[in-house]
Amino acid sequence: MTDRKARPAPPFAMVIFGAGGDLTKRLVVPALYNLERNGMLPEKFAIVGVDHNARSVADWSAGLRDFMDQMTQAKGSEFEDRRVDDSLWRRIAGSMSYIQGDFTRGETFARLADHLKARAKDTPYGGNVLFYLAAADRFFGEIVDRLGEANLLHDGDGWRRVIIEKPFGHDLASAKALNARIARVLKEDQTYRIDHFLGKETVQNIMALRFANGFFEPLWNRDRIDHVQITVAESIGIAKRGKFYEATGALRDMVPNHLFQLLAMTAMEPPVSFNANAIRGKKTDVFCAMHPVRPGDAVRGQYGEGLVGGEKVKGYREEQFVAPDSTVETFVAMRLHIDNWRWAGVPFYLRTGKRMPKRSTEIAIRFKNAPYALFRDTPVDMMHADWMILQIQPDEGIRLRFNAKRPGQTVALDGVAMDFRYADWFKQAPSVGYETLIYDCLIGDATLFQRADQVEAAWAVVQPVLDAWAAEKPRNFPNYAAGSAGPDEANALLARDGRSWRPV
Ligand SMILES: NC(=O)c1ccc[n+]([C@@H]2O[C@H](COP(=O)([O-])OP(=O)(O)OC[C@H]3O[C@@H](n4cnc5c(N)ncnc54)[C@H](OP(=O)(O)O)[C@@H]3O)[C@@H](O)[C@H]2O)c1
Repeated sequence: MTDRKARPAPPFAMVIFGAGGDLTKRLVVPALYNLERNGMLPEKFAIVGVDHNARSVADWSAGLRDFMDQMTQAKGSEFEDRRVDDSLWRRIAGSMSYIQGDFTRGETFARLADHLKARAKDTPYGGNVLFYLAAADRFFGEIVDRLGEANLLHDGDGWRRVIIEKPFGHDLASAKALNARIARVLKEDQTYRIDHFLGKETVQNIMALRFANGFFEPLWNRDRIDHVQITVAESIGIAKRGKFYEATGALRDMVPNHLFQLLAMTAMEPPVSFNANAIRGKKTDVFCAMHPVRPGDAVRGQYGEGLVGGEKVKGYREEQFVAPDSTVETFVAMRLHIDNWRWAGVPFYLRTGKRMPKRSTEIAIRFKNAPYALFRDTPVDMMHADWMILQIQPDEGIRLRFNAKRPGQTVALDGVAMDFRYADWFKQAPSVGYETLIYDCLIGDATLFQRADQVEAAWAVVQPVLDAWAAEKPRNFPNYAAGSAGPDEANALLARDGRSWRPV
């Protein structure tokens, strides 16, 4: 994690595989624009798009610009009401070139090598090249192989780094195979496995909250904490991503990556420094201390039709590119145990789902109740639970819920809240969350990227559930209505421990 007052990145060339895709236009290029606006890009940089679709560089950059203009008009977008600045955009567009080529053909990479040599003449980028794999995951291994064959991964003058998108594997075996395959040509310190949740300020703030404040850490353990709930709820369905979702499902899409990253930030031991390997080592320790999830501790669900935000929406099986009898889960909840000194006996409950009542990502820490003795003769049932809620999106902030005396002559308690909202405190420039990650990669800081062992350890935790679910198809899908907080079984999972979910 970098100092936000840091200097601009060094000169670089960035090659985007999948230049015509959704990720490039929605997140990667807007992030580059924001970095330029924040003065974090160097004087000289080259952006090279690679994609099999035929288009000129002028068409490519005009399409990206149009899309950014649309984002400034879209309600709720990160760019709402912020006009794209012409001179900033000219710098981005002026750095662009485009290669039409197929990722699976060697000649694309030979042309790319020539092209990079040519670009070095107009844009001295010092031999520093970042390859961004904004392509479908089936291409990851092949692109890295071909970059190696074309001798493009050789650190010599300058550095060569590769950002690999998610999903990294679709189970433990495939993640291991992909790690082994890329390790043949790429060193671990050149490999940047991205999880964009880690680009969010509030996720990074978890470390500041825990380790830069003396008073939270003494409470952050099994003596004081009853349990932890991590929720990533989405109100949207699968939009046009039916093909992707049918092959993936909620567990693979969200749990071993996004939810586990939130869990690791919450549960990790203090690192000895902000060195990337120190932090990543502590996170990996959390995954290694986690018991593989027992299938009986996991619940799956799929939405049927229902009402979201007052609007009638269709069920998952009626979505485009989805099989009418699909058994793919759109909701998952699970109970996890971390077997170490800090967390033994403290359950971590995780849930994520599509078409839930609203979009909300939070980590909720439930503290143990105070002893009742003092309130023996008062209405103790009025005592409220103490919670600390780390809100990741949409309203980023931290909320503390605790008991206070209600004004009056009798002793009666009320649950009250103390709130910190990022937007109130800091003047935040709009960001898509990828800025930090791209910038960190350009300066060689891998703290917020996943290491090979971390990815494998995370898959190992969920593998028993993947196996059990593959062996036995669900018979009760759809089992929750769109607009509800998930299936009844998810409530039962906590009820058997005498607990309940926070409302979404
Ligand atoms: N989109 C997101 O919000 C998002 C979020 C997180 C992670 N990701 C990850 O980011 C990656 C890219 O996602 P995306 O949504 O941007 O995908 P996408 O829209 O399908 O973009 C991929 C681009 O690569 C092109 N392409 C496909 N096969 C090719 C080939 N053999 N040679 C050259 N070009 C080829 C595609 O062209 P065609 O359209 O003609 O196939 C398309 O322009 C994926 O790994 C995804 O999991 C995406």
